[in-house]
Amino acid sequence: ATQPKTAPKAPALPDAQTVTFVKHWTDRLFSFRVTRPASLRFRSGEFVMIGLMGDPDEKTGKQKPILRAYSIASPSWDEELEFYSIKVPDGPLTSKLQNIKEGDQIILRPKPVGTLVHDALLPGKRLWFFATGTGFAPFASLLREPQTYEDYEEVVITHTCRTVGELAYGAALIEEIKQDEMLAELMGEDFHKKIRYYPTTTREESPKMGRITDLMRKGEVFEDLGIKPINPEDDRAMVCGNLAFNLEIKEMLEDYGLEEGANSDPKQYVVEKAFVD
Ligand code: A2P
Repeated sequence: ATQPKTAPKAPALPDAQTVTFVKHWTDRLFSFRVTRPASLRFRSGEFVMIGLMGDPDEKTGKQKPILRAYSIASPSWDEELEFYSIKVPDGPLTSKLQNIKEGDQIILRPKPVGTLVHDALLPGKRLWFFATGTGFAPFASLLREPQTYEDYEEVVITHTCRTVGELAYGAALIEEIKQDEMLAELMGEDFHKKIRYYPTTTREESPKMGRITDLMRKGEVFEDLGIKPINPEDDRAMVCGNLAFNLEIKEMLEDYGLEEGANSDPKQYVVEKAFVD
């Protein structure tokens, strides 16, 4: 008797996309890429809900999806979608998601939303990206978005992490952008000179130590970069980090005279919470 050539496939997930690449950066962090639904349009900096099917219910055997908000780390023009995630050992989603391999499927609800978009800011000279931990993700998208360099004379990306290893995804991306031929062709050879990368660590020795908030209060950031302290005429900001960080930096930006904007009401800064499991 003839055997079927392939085993019967597991039922396809709703809104399934296929994993094309996975990279583990530390024991706490990984990034991955998935196929992009042909119909998905989004603005660089937005997020979508992604996830996996949960374990079958003990009584009914039914499976429910576990979904969480994830910033899209790839730019709007990319053929695939990239995500950057923490691994929480007992996190409902990330404890499973951290095991995905190339060829696996994930669920992706194709409804992008978010406030970390160019449309939510008024024109300015300098754009600040303030990130902690996995809050770097939306800026990984925006740093690869040509509009970022069209709209601003200077782009400052600050990233505060506990350890040097946790800076690696961001540091590698900045290097990659500097070598990016497509962006150079679009924006001019010198576009990358607009990027001022300011990584800091809080729990491991590195060239610049301390929380970005403390370094700003001391004026050290502005001295190091050779720029004026933040002011509402020149500076615009996007913030993405843990809750305490977001609240603290929001207060600081308000003290500098910046006001919070939204899609429907663009102003001088915008904030979004980084994904936490
Ligand atoms: P710290 O090590 O001093 O707590 P986490 O991994 O916990 O999300 O933190 C990421 C980074 O954000 C850490 O370097 C942490 O510093 C920093 N951080 C946490 N809370 C704040 C805050 N309120 N202001 C500035 N940085 C913060």
